[in-house]
Amino acid sequence: MLIKGPASPLLCNKLDKTGLKTAEVQTKVFPDEEVYVKVKGKVEGEDCFLVQTTYPNQHLLELFMIQNALKENGARSIKVIVPYYSYGRQDQIFEKGEAISAKAFAQRISIDADEFYSVDLHSEDIVDFFEIPAENISAMTRLAEYSTEKKNPDLLIAPDEGAKEMVENAALNLGLECDYLEKTRIDANTVEIKPKNIDVKGKSVVILDDIIATGGTMTEAAKQLKGSGAEEVHAGCTHGLFVGDAKKNLDAVCDSVFCTDTIEQEKSEVSVAPLLTDLIE
Ligand code: R5P
Repeated sequence: MLIKGPASPLLCNKLDKTGLKTAEVQTKVFPDEEVYVKVKGKVEGEDCFLVQTTYPNQHLLELFMIQNALKENGARSIKVIVPYYSYGRQDQIFEKGEAISAKAFAQRISIDADEFYSVDLHSEDIVDFFEIPAENISAMTRLAEYSTEKKNPDLLIAPDEGAKEMVENAALNLGLECDYLEKTRIDANTVEIKPKNIDVKGKSVVILDDIIATGGTMTEAAKQLKGSGAEEVHAGCTHGLFVGDAKKNLDAVCDSVFCTDTIEQEKSEVSVAPLLTDLIE
């Protein structure tokens, strides 16, 4: 049975090829901001796939409560699919005294689940925080395929060294050229980007990353590439958070901006539904 998490309604509707029975989830927020969930359907004895992104915070709370509802109402197994796993960027102690949020929530999810799946976790190592079998699947090849079809790029670019391998693999699969930019974060809102070995003059490039949050990384990357003579710069990512003025800032410098539907919104031009369908099947 597919449990259609309230954070991912359109994506869940695209999973109909799996042929699974479905159950909707009713949610509401009480005046004191407490969250209420109710799974509408008989889950007793069912093997359940629960699809729910955990951004923004309310959807994280809903996830925990839906898991609990499934368990309390007798589901036989609970396989949790979180298209965008929030809090993944704090995956270690950077400064003494900090929490490891990626681990804290992994442990909480593990309590009422049998298996866990996510798409482009911020780091592959996050799967080790779960106390149940956990797997990360990548949407990068789908983003690269979409780029090839719609943007016709000369090369793909990773905006930093961290994203290099992920983008390189996707480029390799499609026989595309690939490079990366060197990034230095000045503060929470300022990122300085310098090129590695790129000659982008007159070229069309697609920058791919796992997350666009404030858009600082992508905006600077795009500016730098345009400044180096790139003719077209497109920006794509798996998880489009687009916090604050991110969309406006990106639209001002990029020829186009796109993301997947791990977080559903107007720029969700690439669906991860085929990946999840394969996974479920
Ligand atoms: C960083 O390691 C990530 O891969 C992204 O580059 C980063 O999270 C994007 O954040 P922002 O859009 O705020 O620059």
